[in-house]
Amino acid sequence: MTTIIPLAEIDPALVEQLLDSAFGKQRTQRTAYKVREGVNMLEGLSVAAVDMAENELLGTLQCWPVALTDEAGALHPMIMVGPVAVHPDCQRQGVGQALMNGLLKELHEDENLPLILIGDPAYYDRFFGFSPDRTSGWKLPGPWDPERLLVRASADKILPQKGKLGPWIPGQNG
Ligand SMILES: CC(C)(COP(=O)(O)OP(=O)(O)OC[C@H]1O[C@@H](n2cnc3c(N)ncnc32)[C@H](O)[C@@H]1OP(=O)(O)O)[C@@H](O)C(=O)NCCC(=O)NCCS
Repeated sequence: MTTIIPLAEIDPALVEQLLDSAFGKQRTQRTAYKVREGVNMLEGLSVAAVDMAENELLGTLQCWPVALTDEAGALHPMIMVGPVAVHPDCQRQGVGQALMNGLLKELHEDENLPLILIGDPAYYDRFFGFSPDRTSGWKLPGPWDPERLLVRASADKILPQKGKLGPWIPGQNG
């Protein structure tokens, strides 16, 4: 039985162990980590999946404040989702979907910041409407597969066609 709770309630060392088991120890070299380098996790939007009866951590989802800097130098704030990690022993049992639904529930209706994610479109498009269709002109601070750079935004949300993604630190770069 999966329960979604705030990630802040979980010991950070347990979160790191889970991320290692889902993505391997080299995970911090990934471009996704560079996009949100130096920013603090958005605690109100980051969630954990736990099995209360077994007192076990099943999965985690973290969110970060990032921005797309367009060609004119203007910043467009976005929320970066990830890593989404489910423990290898309990993948494909609905935990990933429970985590993402936990995040979507926390988003207020008047908050229409685009969600971005680097991941498999076969999963994130199919269940949650993340798509690479509007990100082809975007750059990242490291190597990436354009098919895996995904955004979820309402159709009427205007997104820059070109720009570079990086950390968003209000007061410093925004
Ligand atoms: C990717 C991940 C978050 C999915 O969560 P999950 O709890 O395992 O998956 P769910 O139970 O929510 O969903 C299961 C469904 O999604 C599909 N699915 C799971 N991972 C998928 C993937 N990477 N690509 C495509 N489909 C996937 C399953 O086939 C299943 O489909 P079905 O219902 O038709 O059989 C999780 O497996 C994970 O953390 N994996 C390790 C990290 C990783 O490999 N990430 C790659 C994407 S960034």
